[in-house]
Amino acid sequence: MMKTETASEFSIKSQIDPTRVPQRVLYSGARMPAIGLGTFGSDHASADDVAAAVEDAVVVGYRHFDCASVYGNEPEIGQALEHIVAGGVKREHLWITSKLWNDKHGEKDVIPSCRQSLADLRLDYLDLYLVHWPFPNFHPPGCDVTSRSKDAKPYIHADFMKTWRKIEELVDSGLVRHIGTSNMTIPKLRLVLHDARIKPAVNEMELHPHFQQPELFEFVRSNGIVPVGYCPVGSPGRPERDRTSEDTAPTEDPVIVKIANRLGVHPAVVCVKWAVQRGQVPIPFSTNRNHYLGNLEGVVGEPLTEFEMREISRIDRNCRLIKGQVFLWKEGQSWEDLWDVTGEITPA
Ligand SMILES: NC(=O)c1ccc[n+]([C@@H]2O[C@H](COP(=O)([O-])OP(=O)(O)OC[C@H]3O[C@@H](n4cnc5c(N)ncnc54)[C@H](OP(=O)(O)O)[C@@H]3O)[C@@H](O)[C@H]2O)c1
Repeated sequence: MMKTETASEFSIKSQIDPTRVPQRVLYSGARMPAIGLGTFGSDHASADDVAAAVEDAVVVGYRHFDCASVYGNEPEIGQALEHIVAGGVKREHLWITSKLWNDKHGEKDVIPSCRQSLADLRLDYLDLYLVHWPFPNFHPPGCDVTSRSKDAKPYIHADFMKTWRKIEELVDSGLVRHIGTSNMTIPKLRLVLHDARIKPAVNEMELHPHFQQPELFEFVRSNGIVPVGYCPVGSPGRPERDRTSEDTAPTEDPVIVKIANRLGVHPAVVCVKWAVQRGQVPIPFSTNRNHYLGNLEGVVGEPLTEFEMREISRIDRNCRLIKGQVFLWKEGQSWEDLWDVTGEITPA
């Protein structure tokens, strides 16, 4: 379990006192920092750049890092983590998440995949291990949204539970402290909550001012699950292949820009502040020190006013940016089918 750092422990290490960073309490009683650094460099940041940002982000005051095997940089981040711990930051003061990739679902590959992430990250245990997507699927990294796998399958609950049983075993064996889901919907989560022996502590989901997912957000919180929000600033650096003409940019929204002007910060910082104040755990990505420092300063700084929080609650546009098209499993479907928009799991 993550132990709270004391002032004397951080003072040599960090620009912003990590004890000032809000924390979220999981149902286990463990505390996770209410902001993490994303580590998906996509096409624009190399593994070494991301690892350098991780190492420096600790100096800035971050303690929470959102990793995944598919990001292709866990070995480099592992070196950074080794330096961080050798430099005096205690392992128990870090919060490290990793994720099982889609082609490793099932009974055989879960434990070896987790062990590989642990070896790459040079850790004895993970604080959190997520099933990255509910769909088993292989698609090559960086493929176009029109790419389809001939082996793609819909969500089959019995199959997902085979994976989840192995994920639960990781907790039993001490390799992982908490487990969670990602990219889930309410009907899928209802089934998992019904059948899980160890229920998800966290659900990672897209969350930003233009995609607030109020129903799912309330559902997970009312079930004692912490919502972790990805693309918290609207993923402005995502590749062209992941964009559609309907996408909007929360950082360009007049409400966000007006608040940013009042505070004298970048609109991204307003998105991050809003996220923490609303109760989710944003994991903004950046390799630019001014940006990741600004995001953390925003979180420990003056809160948004109640009026501003209300104004932001009204700019939701239900604009999902990460649509997941590569998971579609048959001809003639639209990406909405992946997200159970009728409230029922989309039939196979
Ligand atoms: N579970 C999942 O399926 C899933 C899916 C997607 C993402 N994720 C996780 O979520 C993380 C974040 O998502 P994301 O990277 O797509 O989107 P994001 O965090 O919304 O956006 C990242 C972009 O915002 C810019 N940025 C961040 N802070 C800024 C600031 N203060 N001022 C100006 N620009 C700023 C960064 O540019 P600079 O580098 O130039 O600062 C970067 O291009 C990922 O890295 C990954 O860890 C998980």
